[in-house]
Amino acid sequence: MRLVASGKPAIVYAPLRHTLSSGGKRLRALLVLLGCNAVGGSDASALPAAVALECLHNFTLIHDDVMDRSPVRRGRPTVHAKWGDAVAVLAGDHLMSLGYQSLLATARLPARARAIGRRDRLDRIDRLDRLDQILEVYTRAYRDVCEGQGFDLEFERRREVSMREYTKMIGLKTACVIAAASEIGALAGGGRPAEVRSLRLYGERIGLAFQIRDDELDVTGDPKEFGKKIGGDIARAKKTYLLVKAMETARGTDAALLRSVATARGARPVAKVRSVYERTGAIAAARREIVKLTRAAKYALGSLPESAGKSILIDIAERLAGRTA
Ligand code: IPE
Ligand code: IPE
Ligand code: MG
Ligand code: MG
Ligand code: MG
Repeated sequence: MRLVASGKPAIVYAPLRHTLSSGGKRLRALLVLLGCNAVGGSDASALPAAVALECLHNFTLIHDDVMDRSPVRRGRPTVHAKWGDAVAVLAGDHLMSLGYQSLLATARLPARARAIGRRDRLDRIDRLDRLDQILEVYTRAYRDVCEGQGFDLEFERRREVSMREYTKMIGLKTACVIAAASEIGALAGGGRPAEVRSLRLYGERIGLAFQIRDDELDVTGDPKEFGKKIGGDIARAKKTYLLVKAMETARGTDAALLRSVATARGARPVAKVRSVYERTGAIAAARREIVKLTRAAKYALGSLPESAGKSILIDIAERLAGRTA
């Protein structure tokens, strides 16, 4: 919040305060800090990168709400609903500049403060090299999320999308930012290459599970807890896990209803679509997939030494699988 506490023009800073003060789970920031802790780094060395990841995430949300025409997020009106699309575009862009600015501060901080027998494992040259890698991962996440959002939009206009295409799309639009968070945490903490790889893999797997759960909550969630409008994906012909899965097996009138969800925009009775998703086993399949990905995410951490960070990462993976917000 300090990043946007004051500043002019108000037309840029007021929407940013609105967004950042509405909180959210701050999952990506937490993953940076825990990724760093799990490789023996100090919280201080990961803090600017944690802020940078939250900036990237909130940028995606502000622009995503324009693209999806979503009226509510975190229980509040979205930026475009309150200030219009032009302000939302600018606010999102500006958040990315603040993200990069924060990320650059990583080079000025010591890394593995807890390293045994060495006060600071990384000297200045190493730290610049680390910053280079962090910038690379961050920039890749920025690029990937834009491509993933592109596929998401393109799929709105498609009659059918395969599970393979869906998985690629959510890997880019959602898992890449979550994976970047845990990977950047490990890099900021001076992690060894194998540790960095493990934390990236963990993030990729919880990231996929996270989006499948998000798709499920669009149908089964409680709007008060979820903070978003229920049925938004159905109204926008989004190719969600549930729709893709249900279309694989639905027959007769169920198949006809799903075809209309897939091809035409407009609000529909969510309960009717939900009952098709239940009948075809799509909701049960989503839950099984989430359990499988969560198990795989925890497995990815297997080779890391025991630490507070590692055990919280395991706990987070499990909690996300059943999240309601
Ligand atoms: C929402 O992310 C966007 C998706 C990737 C589904 P979060 O559910 O993490 O949003 P906040 O930050 O907690 O509001
Ligand atoms: C999330 O997709 C992807 C990004 C925000 C990049 P959604 O469109 O499903 O996210 P919500 O449900 O609006 O948060
Ligand atoms: Mg959306
Ligand atoms: Mg979207
Ligand atoms: Mg969603």
